[in-house]
Amino acid sequence: MADAWFETVAEAQRRAKKKLPKSVYLALVAGSERGKTLEDNIDAYTELGFAPHIAGLATERDLTTTVMGQELALPVMISPTGVQAVHPDGEVAIARAAAARGTAMGLSSFASKPVEEVVAANPQTFFQLYWAGTREQILARVERAKAAGAVGIILTLDWSFSQGRDWGSPSIPQQIDFRTMLQFAPEVALRPAWALRWLRSGALPDLTAPNMAMPGQPAPGFFAAYGEWMQTPLPSWDDLRWLRSQYDGKLMLKGVMRVDDARRAVDTGFDAISVSNHGGNNLDGTPASVRALPVVAEAVGSQVDVLLDGGIRRGSDVVKAVALGAKAVMIGRAYLWGLAANGQAGVENVFDILRSGADSGLLGTGRSRIRDLTPEDLLVPEDFERRLGVAESPLGAGQTVLA
Ligand SMILES: Cc1cc2nc3c(=O)[nH]c(=O)nc-3n(C[C@H](O)[C@H](O)[C@H](O)COP(=O)(O)O)c2cc1C
Repeated sequence: MADAWFETVAEAQRRAKKKLPKSVYLALVAGSERGKTLEDNIDAYTELGFAPHIAGLATERDLTTTVMGQELALPVMISPTGVQAVHPDGEVAIARAAAARGTAMGLSSFASKPVEEVVAANPQTFFQLYWAGTREQILARVERAKAAGAVGIILTLDWSFSQGRDWGSPSIPQQIDFRTMLQFAPEVALRPAWALRWLRSGALPDLTAPNMAMPGQPAPGFFAAYGEWMQTPLPSWDDLRWLRSQYDGKLMLKGVMRVDDARRAVDTGFDAISVSNHGGNNLDGTPASVRALPVVAEAVGSQVDVLLDGGIRRGSDVVKAVALGAKAVMIGRAYLWGLAANGQAGVENVFDILRSGADSGLLGTGRSRIRDLTPEDLLVPEDFERRLGVAESPLGAGQTVLA
């Protein structure tokens, strides 16, 4: 459909809002408590500026980069999200879209599709792990991902189980059965196209987490898997060293906001970190990830691949994050809106928006390779950065004040 194309991520979000039942839409908006971090993740980019050149610009521009040994056509990859109920093709459609645009997929532990199907759709798939269950269970999941052909593991640790949003959390059923169908019928009735899409696929969103299953066991329900995670003793740095010793592939630590933690990740043997606050879904009051990026990238950027996720909605955001030290960014909601708006083509559409916006930004800086960008290519206000976990900072370690 020609009119299915959208020109901005904001438009994709508007369409997602119109297409999805309210509960599904709200689950993607997510955020926690007052939403201060969610807001800052996006607003921070508006404080960063450009001073574009007008002549002598590069005719050929190169957006390629490498992350954990994977060559990417652009410095944007898929951040893992549990996309239950958004689209019947779920993570397989997302993985295909990423492959079509030459980039990598991050697959959540809480995804609706098994890792084997997702790797088949995109061989550049990283499997995301939470610290859930016993060491044996954790290892079984890692080994399954490895056997499926995943090219690395993303360990996400920034989750404090905070609950509640001032604008209300959606009610999510334990499973979809006749009773819940009736309960959700009024909001689904307002979104017939979404319901039709599922009807045509011959299935209902089953709200299971197939990648949390143990060998030979059926996929647990989303809440059973979440419960297992909540009851798991929290990992120590020794546990992380143990994981490192058990897995010989590429390992990323996602959710790092502080320089001291970034240094420990390097010492523990991680190959990459993502500067991230879980898209503002974790501890509200954590600053925007892009504010924490420069100091973290400066501290460890020569030792590990530094990525960033949180608040990326435009190609110019990608340029800004790369200029401040990220090798690449990961996107979350942007592709979820695209998926809801138009399935795989919608996710491809989002990549195209980010690609052409990044290319325009790069053109304006006068550089030809995105990897050559530096903070000098931006206008960075003096009070922009947050130097978290920097012992020698004149502001003291762990400053956490928001703008
Ligand atoms: C609905 C939703 C579900 C998410 N689920 C996961 C998850 O299962 N694992 C994970 O590591 N991060 C998860 N995240 C965080 C994303 O990977 C990413 O850090 C965040 O979305 C980036 O911010 P952005 O949405 O502003 O791009 C989730 C985020 C959202 C919005």
